[in-house]
Amino acid sequence: MEIAEPKPAWWKEMSVYQIWPRSFADGNNDGVGDLQGVLGKLDYIKALGVDAIWFSPLYPSPNADYGYDIADYRNISPDYGDLALFQEVLDAAHARGIKVFMDLVVNHTSDQHPWFQAAKESTDSPYHDYYIWRGGRGAAPARPQGKRPPNNWLSVFEGKAWEYVSQVKEYYLHVFAKGQPDLNMANPKVREEVKEIMRFWLDMGVDGFREDVITYIAKREGLPNGFPLPIATGFEHYTNLPKVKDYLREFQQDVLSGYGAFTVGEAPMMTPKVAKEYITEAAGNLLNMMFHFQHMEADCLMTDWIGLPFRLKKLKRVWTSWQKEMYGVGWNALYLENHDHPRIINRYGSLKYRVESGKMLAAAYLLQSGTPFVYQGQEIGMTNITQPSLSAFKDVVTFNNAKLAKKLGLSDARFLKIANRRSRENARTPMQWSAEPNAGFSEAEPWFAVNPNYAEINVAAAQADPNSLLHWYRALLQFRREHPVVVYGRYEEHYKSSRSLYCYTSEYRGQRLLVVCSFKEEPVRFQAPAGFELVNAALVFCNYAKPVEAGCSFITRPYECRVYLM
Ligand code: GLC
Repeated sequence: MEIAEPKPAWWKEMSVYQIWPRSFADGNNDGVGDLQGVLGKLDYIKALGVDAIWFSPLYPSPNADYGYDIADYRNISPDYGDLALFQEVLDAAHARGIKVFMDLVVNHTSDQHPWFQAAKESTDSPYHDYYIWRGGRGAAPARPQGKRPPNNWLSVFEGKAWEYVSQVKEYYLHVFAKGQPDLNMANPKVREEVKEIMRFWLDMGVDGFREDVITYIAKREGLPNGFPLPIATGFEHYTNLPKVKDYLREFQQDVLSGYGAFTVGEAPMMTPKVAKEYITEAAGNLLNMMFHFQHMEADCLMTDWIGLPFRLKKLKRVWTSWQKEMYGVGWNALYLENHDHPRIINRYGSLKYRVESGKMLAAAYLLQSGTPFVYQGQEIGMTNITQPSLSAFKDVVTFNNAKLAKKLGLSDARFLKIANRRSRENARTPMQWSAEPNAGFSEAEPWFAVNPNYAEINVAAAQADPNSLLHWYRALLQFRREHPVVVYGRYEEHYKSSRSLYCYTSEYRGQRLLVVCSFKEEPVRFQAPAGFELVNAALVFCNYAKPVEAGCSFITRPYECRVYLM
């Protein structure tokens, strides 16, 4: 069967930089990153060669989940600035040809949002039905409050998924933290609010949205109990239900399409087969692309902590299935790091070969067909931090897992070790700009620990070193811009059963690309696939001094990566 080439689009050709604002750059020296800080770094972002910025939430928030609990959708947190300053950043980004995407978090609000404040006052409040309320199971007055929630669902972040409010004698649903009550998207008024929020930012000039856990926004009728094995989380009753598509279609038709706005939806437990129900033309392009979790050793935020050993074959299988399944029909969002996972050099690479393995990982994913996302600090090879004690942690997920660990009988020392490896806080340490105090992030004591390796790993050092990861990322992104084979090429994986090498080729209109990545320190023999004569190809990237090509095979150096163009 003839497979159609992907149709060109600006959002397929762009690459995106993710900013987690609290830790990016502190412009007013109060220890917290802010928009003034961002303004000062736009030229740095431009020089990286990306076309867009995705801002993790900038809105006012009590920070039960660092901004993912929003108290006002039409404003900027005073921690970060105000609307006027945001407009300035937006205009300054646009002046540099950089688009701006906001994080749209509408599965839930903060419990401090005025809607929820009104909703919990009275069942008669017009806002009550903005959220999901149920009475307790059993004869409520006879039971001690909180003992019999409406069903057996567990929240992703904090114990049971239900919290009792005595004022209304009902429980509200929170799939995430207690401070993140779920919105009732079945209520048309809520959907109108969402559309108004979208219009507000789009009218300001924002170019699109990253939609937070968007596949969770519909809940199963009747809220039945979750499947009880091994634990009843209830996720099957709020993940990818058919109604999600109806809601997305409504947002698309009523708002987004009119603005030509970009959308990427965060989608835990997503498979290529299900993704096609959202992101293909046949499905109505409900989103442009999705962030799935399959390559993150985890299918959702909950499983990240299980800490399965890294298996290259599984990673390759996931990458290849998405490349194959999406080609010509959907589109891949390519990412390895964000604010929800530990750093990749620790996960998939090597601290000993930090730069080499960091470069290899960048080439492994950036040259696939899709839209690449780079997370702040990834481009200079920032690594996990080793916190000295549990009191240094700040995230609700870590707190929750600490409680669970206690229940399971784990010692504090043991849990600390796990948290240092698995916590997403590893990705949230302040950006390392220079070897100045506080890594040049702030003149004040930063809100969160700076990784002590900043003296060595920082932007200024990376800018000065032509062999740095930063220059490598810049070169890869530029190469991508200049070579449609990267963006639109048809992917083929080679040596699938290798536990050491990841190798793929990509073809587009007569150009061919060969990417060879060793995930091992030990030497591995690589033999070029049939039809790829290395001596006749241009070696466009190599994370070691470029070798003299001799024949069609070579022995890899630690974490070696080579990219050939034919
Ligand atoms: C998404 C966000 C994560 C947040 C969660 C709840 O997964 O990326 O940071 O904690 O949603 O909003």
